[in-house]
Amino acid sequence: MKTDRELKDLWIKFFTKHGFKRIPGYSIIPENDPTVLFTTAGMHPLVPYLLGEPHPYGDKIFDVQRCIRTNDIDEVGDSSHLTLFEMLGNWTLGKCDKKEMIKLSFEFLTSPEYLNIPKERLAVTVFDGNETAPKDEEAFNAWKECGIDKVFYLPKENNWWALGGGVGPCGPDTEMFYDTGKPKCSENCSPACDCGKYLEIWNDVFMQYYVKEPGAKAEKLARPNIDTGMGLERTVCVLNGAESVYDSGCLKNVIDFIGSKANVKYKDSAQSIRSYRIITDHLRSSVFILGDARGVTPSNVGQGYILRRFIRRASNCARNIGLDPKYFTEISDIFVDEYGKDYSDIAEHREFIKEELIKEVEKFSKALDEGHKEFEKVIAGNEKHKEFAAKTGEKVENKLSGKAVFRLYDTFGFPFELTKELAEERGYTVDRAEFEEKFKEHQEKSRVASAGTFKGGLADGSKQSARLHTATHLLLAGLQHMFGKQIVQKGSNITPERLRFDFNLDHKMTLEELKQVEDFVNDAIARNLPVTSEIVTLEKAKAEGAHGTFTNKYGDEVKVYTIGDVSKEICGGPHAENTGELHHFKIVKEESSSSGIRRIKAILD
Ligand code: ALA
Repeated sequence: MKTDRELKDLWIKFFTKHGFKRIPGYSIIPENDPTVLFTTAGMHPLVPYLLGEPHPYGDKIFDVQRCIRTNDIDEVGDSSHLTLFEMLGNWTLGKCDKKEMIKLSFEFLTSPEYLNIPKERLAVTVFDGNETAPKDEEAFNAWKECGIDKVFYLPKENNWWALGGGVGPCGPDTEMFYDTGKPKCSENCSPACDCGKYLEIWNDVFMQYYVKEPGAKAEKLARPNIDTGMGLERTVCVLNGAESVYDSGCLKNVIDFIGSKANVKYKDSAQSIRSYRIITDHLRSSVFILGDARGVTPSNVGQGYILRRFIRRASNCARNIGLDPKYFTEISDIFVDEYGKDYSDIAEHREFIKEELIKEVEKFSKALDEGHKEFEKVIAGNEKHKEFAAKTGEKVENKLSGKAVFRLYDTFGFPFELTKELAEERGYTVDRAEFEEKFKEHQEKSRVASAGTFKGGLADGSKQSARLHTATHLLLAGLQHMFGKQIVQKGSNITPERLRFDFNLDHKMTLEELKQVEDFVNDAIARNLPVTSEIVTLEKAKAEGAHGTFTNKYGDEVKVYTIGDVSKEICGGPHAENTGELHHFKIVKEESSSSGIRRIKAILD
């Protein structure tokens, strides 16, 4: 039986032996990257380096990165989908030697010292070519040289990797699968068919291309890279021949704990299995989000909305199996005990996590009672309508209008997906398009950011984004100069046009205050201050008074950017080289973001 810890240790040992340097993992909330709400892959925080910025640790690096992906949230509850996972990643920057990487992958997978998978049990896929990139014969041949028989050519849908939204560095990949030995589902059975015969364990992306903006053609990268990612939990599951990712380690401990407190047993029915797993998955993700140094709390926008959805959905599942949600705090302790060992911010936020979980559960419980009554009213109304219509021969669908669904969301805090789930339990569908229309109208009214995808940001690697990034550091320094050192960054989002910066302050800034902060930044710009960086230990960075969200482990090395005598922050970069490059800073808006949090939008002109 392999554990998560053993697999992590093997990864570290293997890549260290092969001359790669371990880099610290990043926060689960992307910094200065508006392309997605969460860090979705190990490469995500590394985009500037994949686009050519030299990495302080050199050009052969690896890590363990916490990731959240919500695109498969509806699949959670099955045997393999998780919203949060730890990704084992390694990178070669500025060089794309496919043969070398495939040989390394083969060694890690098959060597008795590492995963010890018989090569007959492996199947791999490679890119079959299109108008952008040729058929990947190089990768195909490299696998054949290793002695792998089952090599499949597959099209772009299967073997091309890019960040969600398609913008940024990308390229053909080769994916590695474990063959369970189950019979082929058809003559054409391959890793593409999802029949369960082949389970994916690792992905090597040959990052030879780059897409500048949505819809643009992929261009060749002058300095290509290799980016690989292995899903920790799934790989452990495969190596153990387990039925699901919930069958070992911490996830299993939580399933067992729930079993000791709930009225309905885990394996009573397909629905109870699903409920146990959703509670486990969603609370784990909630612990990671609440535990992150960036301090996200449940709300109706952005990451806060996803967090709210996780906690509320878990609460609803708890109801299904007769589990009192007050036990969420004990479940959270199980997760903090485990993951706090690797992620210091999670350990430091143990109490905060529990408080926020309980607060949200209580809010939801109140809303739920009211909302359930409302939900039943809507259903009853429809049933009445149906009865009446039956007499006249009119057909009435079992469908909730978008308007009703939006009312449940807006007035009673029912996330859309929850209403959909409740409706489905009653044999109803919901009008998603109409709901989305109402939702949009609402967003425009309250000018809040949506939980969608944005374009631009540091993923575009442009000089303008780097300038805005430097301006963000100066802005924080200006705010601290004005209001004190307790001011911290609560969120940041950069597009090529503007910066957006959230921070803690208990009042609306006056025009005079805004002017003074603007002057502070423009004064730093006028002084042509150098922007320099150095790598130091986390302890040294803290001792030097560097600001930043401390998500790293003690002993880790971090990059600190210094702007003259004005600012010192832990940050990955990239930045302008000199403040003079910023020309002129202008605040265009100051508004409330959420309770106690202000938001500034600013431009450089
Ligand atoms: N970035 C690649 C992935 O997420 C390795 O699969």
